[in-house]
This record gives sequence, C-alpha cells and structure tokens, in this order.
Amino acid sequence: MSRQLFVTTALPYANGKFHIGHIMEYIQADIWVRFQRMQGNQVNFVGADDAHGAPIMIAAEKAGVTPQQFVANIAAGRKEYLDGFQISFDNWSSTDSPENHELARQIYRDLKANDLIDVKTIEQFFDPEKTMFLPDRYIKGTCPKCGTPDQYGDNCENCGAVYAPTDLIKPYSALSGATPVLKSSEHFFFKLSDQRCVDFLQSWTQDGKLQPEVANKVKEWFSVRTNPDGSKSEGLGDWDISRDAPYFGIEIPDAPGKYFYVWLDAPVGYLASLKNLLGKRGEDYNAYMANPALEQYHFIGKDIVTFHTLFWPAMLHFSGRKTPNNVFVHGFLTVNNGEKMSKSRGTGLDPLKYLSLGMNPEWLRYYLAAKLSARNEDIDFNADDFMARVNSDLIGKFVNIASRAAGFLTKRFDGKLSTDFGPQGEELLFEIHGAKDNLANAYEAREFGKATRDIMLLADKVNAYVDQHKPWDLAKDAANNEALHQVCSVLINAFAEISRYLAPVLPSLAQAVQAFVGTSMKHWTVTGYVAAIQPYQHLMQRVTPEQLDALFEPPAPTEVKLIPGGEDIAPAISIDDFTKIDLRIAKIVNCEAVDGSVKLLRLTLDVGEGKTRNVFSGIASAYKPEDLIGKHTVMVANLAPRKMKFGISEGMVLAASHGDEKAQPGIYVLEPLAGAMPGMRVK
Ligand code: MSP
Ligand code: ZN
Repeated sequence: MSRQLFVTTALPYANGKFHIGHIMEYIQADIWVRFQRMQGNQVNFVGADDAHGAPIMIAAEKAGVTPQQFVANIAAGRKEYLDGFQISFDNWSSTDSPENHELARQIYRDLKANDLIDVKTIEQFFDPEKTMFLPDRYIKGTCPKCGTPDQYGDNCENCGAVYAPTDLIKPYSALSGATPVLKSSEHFFFKLSDQRCVDFLQSWTQDGKLQPEVANKVKEWFSVRTNPDGSKSEGLGDWDISRDAPYFGIEIPDAPGKYFYVWLDAPVGYLASLKNLLGKRGEDYNAYMANPALEQYHFIGKDIVTFHTLFWPAMLHFSGRKTPNNVFVHGFLTVNNGEKMSKSRGTGLDPLKYLSLGMNPEWLRYYLAAKLSARNEDIDFNADDFMARVNSDLIGKFVNIASRAAGFLTKRFDGKLSTDFGPQGEELLFEIHGAKDNLANAYEAREFGKATRDIMLLADKVNAYVDQHKPWDLAKDAANNEALHQVCSVLINAFAEISRYLAPVLPSLAQAVQAFVGTSMKHWTVTGYVAAIQPYQHLMQRVTPEQLDALFEPPAPTEVKLIPGGEDIAPAISIDDFTKIDLRIAKIVNCEAVDGSVKLLRLTLDVGEGKTRNVFSGIASAYKPEDLIGKHTVMVANLAPRKMKFGISEGMVLAASHGDEKAQPGIYVLEPLAGAMPGMRVK
C-alpha cells in the first residue's frame, strides 16, 4: 500500500539569499523524498518563504521598497538555487499568501474558542522617533553588569550577562538612536501553561517519536525555563503571539492594530503552501488533511526545535487539527572547520558560486549524504575530504564500473548483454540485489551516511570482481569472448542496480544511467536484467583542486557587485535624479552633545544663507563635539526638515560607513579639500 506523505523543510526568512546551510537542509529532505517516491509512496513536498516580521519590515524600509516588493525580490531568486541543486519541491509559496492569512486567522479563532488565548498588558520599550515598539534586538545600551557600551537588549557580548532590555543603562534605539520610553500595550498570549497543553505536550514529545537527543532537550523545558531577565521559572510559560503596528504580518481577528508574531504564522505556512499546491491541482485540501493515514514530517535545524515541538503541535492539536507525525532535526553545517554560518550572511561556500564554477551539484549531494545521519549533530564541509569522497569513492569506485565494461560490449557485442553470468557473477548480482531492504531501511531512517557506505562496499566487491577477471586481459584473445561477454554483462547489471540505490542522492546521474542501460531508475526494485546498452558517454567528471581553490577564493569585487563598503551599488539614476539633490559646503560653527541621546550630535551649520541651520547627525560614537567645530563638510541642503524628539533637523551631513557596521565599525564625516567656502554647490 502506498503511503501518503506531506513533507516540508523550514521556511527561510525572506531577508536574504540562501546560504549553504539552507541548501544542506533541502538536500537532506530531498534525498528522503526521492527515496519515498521510488518506493511508490505519494509525496507532497513543499517550501515557502517566511515573509513576515520586524527585520524584514525594517530591511524593506531601508531599501526603499514595500515589504511585499522586498520579499518578492528575494522569492524571485529562489528557483536558481533549487533547480541548481535538484531539489524536487512540488511547491514554493510564501507566508504572506492569501492561504496563510486565512489559515492563521482560522487557527487563532479555534484556539480562542478553546479558551487558550489570553490578553495581558505588558510594558515594553517604545521608540518615540520611529513610533514603534522595539524588538529586543533593536535596543542597545550599556551593560548593567560590566559597563560595556553598545550591547544588545538581551545579553552582553563582553561579559556574557543575560538581562532584560529594561536593565540596560542608557538604552537607545538601534533604529533611530532615540532613547526608548516604556509604554504599555495589550498582548495576546497562547496559554501554553494551561494543564491541557502541558499534558498533551509531555506525551507528544516523550512518546518516542522524536530523536532521543531532541526529546531529552525538550524535556528540560517542562521543568525550568529562562526568563528574559535571566531568572528561572517552573514549567512552560505562556507564549506572546502578538505584535503592535507597525508590523509586517497578519492582522489578528477583531484586534485592529495587532498582528501575529512572525513565529505564529510561519509554521502555518507549511499548511498554506500545501493548500496552495492542492488548489492549483484542483484537489481538496480538507479532504487531504482528513485522511487518517496521512503522514506529516518537518525537516528543521536544531535552532528552531522549540517552535516545532511545543508551539506548533499545541497550536495544531488544540485547534482541532492533525499534528505532525514527526519533526526531523539536523545539526548545523560548518565550512572548512570554520565558524558557524551567520544566519544572514552565510560563509565560505557560496552555493551560486559553486554552480557558476561548473561544479556538479551531485558532488555536493553525494558528499552531504555521506556525512548525514539521523542524529542532530553538526557536520563540516571540508574541501580535502570533499575531493577524496567524490574522486575516490563516487567516481573511482562507482562511476568507473560502467566505463570499464561498456566499451567492450559496444565494440564486440553490438551493445547486447548476456544473461549467462557464471556462478561468481550470479552470486555477486544476487548479493547486490539482496542489499535492497537494508539500504531501504537506512534511507527510511535518514541514515544516509550508512546507506552510502554500504553502497560503496558493494562497489568494492564489484571492483574486486573486475580485478579478478581482468576484462582487459580477456579481450586480448578472441577465445575468451564468451567469458568477456559474461564479465562485462555482470558489471553493467551491477552498475545499474547500484545506480538505482544512489538515485535518491544522484537524480540526474540516475537519469543518464537509465538512458544508457534502458532499465528504469524510478522504482526502488526492478526485476529483470539489462538487455542492451547505448554507447557509453562520460557520466561524471572529477572535481579538481583548481575548482575548490576558486570556490573558496575571496570574491573578486566585480564578480559579485560588492564593494569594500559592504553594500551593493544602488540601481542607476539619471543626471536629473542627481541634480534634485542640492549638496552644499557647510561650515560647522557649533557642535554639541544631545541630552538623552548617545548617538546624536547637534550641529550648527553655515551654508552661506545669512542664517545658520540646526542639523542632528548620528555620529556621536565617532566624534567629540570639539573635534568638529570650525571644520567644513558637505550637507544635503534641500532635504525636507524633519521633526525629531530633540528638535527640528534642517538637513543632513554626509558621512561614510561600512554596510556592515558590526564587521567594520566607524563613521567618517566628509571634509572638502582646502579652499571650499560655505554655500558652494557640490556637483
Ligand atoms: N524562518 C525561520 C523558520 C520558520 S519555519 C516555520 C528560520 N529561517 S532561517 O532562514 O533562519 O533558517 C531556515 C533553516 O535553515 C532552519 O531549519 C535552520 O536551522 C537552517 N539553517 C540555518 N543555518 C544553518 C546551517 N549553518 N546549517 C544547517 N542548517 C542551517 O529559522
Ligand atoms: Zn557586560
């Protein structure tokens, strides 16, 4: 009986391109899915962009586009990666889709009807300049423990102290520099502390379905949890699921100005992408989900286990929906023993660069398969190891089997194979065929490393058979024709079967083998032997050290459009666009600190107008007021005046900084060469 499977990977934040960690997750899930399809099981394999949340809203604002445009741009780039690495998603959608808006709101209504939604008033930091509540990561200030300035709202990078943003000394908004004020607001909570939830989750997480190391970690959360201020509490806490406008997300029913916190609607996006897919096919989503035999699996990384083993199953169960059959957790991928990849920037191995260098995606698929197990453990991409596994194992042991036999068959036997394999050949083929159940079990259990190891052991046996029978020697004497035919026929049949075993990992190669030997690679088990082959064409090249060197060479500036400033060059503008900006030489006649802001300096500027202008500039971290008084600089003179908390700013001073402030801090105010006078136009 064929199984019905609904499989997902985590939905990546739509604020950046894929990095190699994402690709690893997709490859892991894709191998499993392709294996299931070969078993004759019906799989719907879906992904989507995780479009909502404050960081995406802020990034869009910075880029000068709407959040919808911003995430659409990111989404447009996804296909290149997914096709490139042969990921066989049936659908790719977005958490901002109509299906997700509707489903998230419905699930919320169902939870509310089940008395699991609470409203509590909480106090939070509010940025009076941006008029928005600040997520912890956008609040900075001085560490209350060690006094290091410019620390994030939840912990100190210097001394490691954990605290609440309200504990910071001299807190400021990382968005505007303004001093945040405490403001209270109503938030909605999912009552995870409700005994019904606790009982349900205890059993859901501890009934043996989860990986043991995952279940153990989850167990701890039922006894103690760490509060934002570092203190500990007992048991599961209620989960804050709302955010106040402005927020890019889904509006909460009957609560104007309140939005679902991104992690509420993100996993709902799994269902929404499935619904979107079934809709396109004209199939009924409700009927599909109502099938009691449907199995639902989520592949995720170790950093998002809480969301998938507590919040998500509870949301589903208590809204009267089917819960996942399991959540498959993988560790993180590091590169060349290197640092963990940064979530936003990735590191080392750029997936698109890999493809553009002409490197075979199946090398990476094979290499990762060889390293992956069912355990939640980190794995490392190591360039030397990669080359060894691809060249010695994949090509040396496996691909070469075909080339050793094909030529003789084509030249001497018109491409036709014998079905007389001789006793040794029979035995070898019998053994290879007999491995199918063990290998299937390994794939099913996501023990891909074990599967590839066992497959390579089979290849070793085939190579031992070749070395024993030496077809190249047999070919020297026509009297051995029959033996040569036998040996080569054994090799091609062995090769075909091993190719099928590797088909979940190497889908294109399996396709090419199918064309070469004429037997199907679509099903796990095929009876019957190869009758004839097509002339052999090279199936796979070796990886070269030059390719690996190029892959890890720091990108040349022109290649990736990156400048040392760390930001892409903005789209082209016309000269008319430029002349709209009136840049003038300004003399800094006075400069002083701004009370209540650690970021801003107040500048008094002479732009040759017979009066001075007042301008606030976020350069206090780089200059003392007395450093600047008397200097000349460049200002935007026709910028509309802006009301700020500390007064009106009548222009903007030009300063240079790196696109990634953390990687390369520093702000540099522009100063003209000697002789420039206040009021001169800069063009
Ligand atoms: N948007 C959330 C997931 C929502 S799921 C309803 C998110 N996005 S993410 O882009 O940060 O991460 C997506 C997936 O990539 C996660 O499963 C995460 O664990 C995985 N990885 C991120 N970095 C990784 C590595 N370095 N290695 C392997 N996987 C990694 O979290
Ligand atoms: Zn500190």
